Amino acid sequence: MARNVIITGGGTGIGLAAAHAFAAEGDRVLIVGRRAEVLQKADVAGVLTHAADLGTVQGARGAAEFAREAFGGTVDVLVHSAGGSGRLEPAEGVGDDPLDAVAHAWTTNFRINTLTSVLLTEALREHLTSPGGRILFLSSVAALRGSGTGAYGGAKAALHPYTFDLAKALGPRGITVNAVAPGYVEDTEFFGPSMPQEEYRRRVGAIPTGRAGTPDDIAATLVWLASPGAGHVTGQIVQVNGGEMLGR
Ligand SMILES: NC(=O)c1ccc[n+]([C@@H]2O[C@H](COP(=O)([O-])OP(=O)(O)OC[C@H]3O[C@@H](n4cnc5c(N)ncnc54)[C@H](OP(=O)(O)O)[C@@H]3O)[C@@H](O)[C@H]2O)c1
Repeated sequence: MARNVIITGGGTGIGLAAAHAFAAEGDRVLIVGRRAEVLQKADVAGVLTHAADLGTVQGARGAAEFAREAFGGTVDVLVHSAGGSGRLEPAEGVGDDPLDAVAHAWTTNFRINTLTSVLLTEALREHLTSPGGRILFLSSVAALRGSGTGAYGGAKAALHPYTFDLAKALGPRGITVNAVAPGYVEDTEFFGPSMPQEEYRRRVGAIPTGRAGTPDDIAATLVWLASPGAGHVTGQIVQVNGGEMLGR
């Protein structure tokens, strides 16, 4: 039976691959992101779109209301792919004081990675299919081993105890809650328009499988975690990163 699936950050990268993968399963898919023009370009069969900043209460509430109306009730699968390193976000109003830059990096990462996931989940938690609902977060290997400044990894790591608490709270309703932790994934907007060859070689060189992750690698795991076969998997941080956590 077709499920009602929401994918945040569904206009690009991992979220867009997930939108294709769930649509191929025959599901009804709603993608959410801030840029309406990017969402509208997504060539996913039958996809619904809604533009909103999910890092705000107003944006999350509006997206939840849109989803409930569009789906006529409950949500079966909620995939939180919205996020980023924060480096590409505008730095308006950040002064010369280095502490200003630190505060900006941490608050930006918390807003785009943590709050986007938490606010929409809380807005929809009473409207998830029960039993059978699925919540899937996008974490990162950075949450397990650091990310340079701590800001990005810290914002992703905040999703781990949230995953555990939700798994315990929603388990009795037959809803599972898991997070997927990719390593370096190419063909996304995460690193901006291009990456220097040297950095690409360094990143891939640190991955035991000898290749970058692809958005389809992550989408396949999301589809599996949403399937009936994964119905007894909950409260897990599933690493999909070619062993990047181990290094080489
Ligand atoms: N690529 C990697 O190597 C990698 C590794 C580990 C984890 N991840 C995680 O995987 C997820 C998907 O990233 P990606 O690699 O596919 O990068 P991406 O192409 O940049 O996708 C991120 C998406 O999130 C949306 N977004 C960001 N802030 C938002 C907000 N406040 N409200 C609504 N939507 C928002 C963006 O669209 P708008 O700008 O239009 O809002 C964009 O479509 C992210 O959570 C990322 O942190 C990526």
